[in-house]
Amino acid sequence: TRTPVNVTVTGAAGQIGYALLFRIASGHLLGADVPVKLRLLEIPQGLKAAEGTAMELDDCAFPLLQGIEITDDPNVGFDGANVALLVGARPRTKGMERGDLLSANGGIFKPQGKAINDNAADDIKVLVVGNPANTNALIAQAAAPDVPAERFTAMTRLDHNRALSQLAKKTGAPVSDIKRLTIWGNHSATQYPDIFHAEIAGKNAAEVVGDEQWLADTFIPTVAKRGAAIIEARGASSAASAANAAIDHVHTWVNGTAAGDWTSMGIPSDGSYGVPEGLISSFPVTCKDGKYEIVQGLDVNEFSRARIDASVQELKEERDAVRELGLI
Ligand code: NAI
Repeated sequence: TRTPVNVTVTGAAGQIGYALLFRIASGHLLGADVPVKLRLLEIPQGLKAAEGTAMELDDCAFPLLQGIEITDDPNVGFDGANVALLVGARPRTKGMERGDLLSANGGIFKPQGKAINDNAADDIKVLVVGNPANTNALIAQAAAPDVPAERFTAMTRLDHNRALSQLAKKTGAPVSDIKRLTIWGNHSATQYPDIFHAEIAGKNAAEVVGDEQWLADTFIPTVAKRGAAIIEARGASSAASAANAAIDHVHTWVNGTAAGDWTSMGIPSDGSYGVPEGLISSFPVTCKDGKYEIVQGLDVNEFSRARIDASVQELKEERDAVRELGLI
């Protein structure tokens, strides 16, 4: 029998948490043969609801679920953690300035980064879902100097999946025929979904679409503003699709990308494609044996360059702001 993997989920009592925990416990995060132990980290006000969710997890009698622990202490929550999904964050409320948002989240992600540094297992892998995800990941990473920086990642997989789906709709191709799509930059309205290197059943996607106007005026804004469209329609922000993307992100990181394909992950830049080193920005990556690598050597055309640069500029500004606030 395999030793269980310790998976910590923050914000476990929230709506993404509710959509996420059952899929982790049923084997979708790591594999159908990998037992898991769950740690649910919440703030004191969220503990009771997290206990309710844990009761329901018990009631599923998942064969792979070997234990659930609930805590509001990050040092306990991350003790021995192999995978950490940082979902709980401070949302932007009406009238909140960016500086206020960043400092409120710094108050969450800096101590959590330190607790990961001090308590997590040596092979810890971190995915930040809570927004602003890229910069929250940077704050946590900076607070964890003993953990290799590349273990801190931010989620752009939901954007990636949204882009796949929009492209499938436009071309009539099944999602499974689409490969090598890329989300560049920040998980925000400035993100750039790039189809110039994507393939649809082996043909170049931009050529199959053959409509740069659709790219600029429909595809890119639809993907980038999809979160707001979901709120408008559902009356609540995306939860099941966000949880699904978190599952996909970690599953791919651990189990690898398919031959000939890649995925998108927010990761600390090594300077590739002109993205300043250390910024947590989305790149095309391949994964193998629990490690990822940036896809190198892609030709970046003018259309793409301008959009990547704009999103990276926003990431730089967020980094400078959290630096000024003393959060990194
Ligand atoms: P929610 O408000 O339903 O749940 C958040 C939970 O986090 C609450 O239960 C709260 O008590 C908890 N929490 C707050 N501070 C905490 C702390 N310091 N430690 C532990 N738990 C804490 O929010 P929801 O819908 O589950 O979304 C969570 C985050 O995910 C938000 O920041 C949202 O913007 C983000 N998100 C990111 C996406 C992405 O693609 N990267 C997509 C969708 C949402």
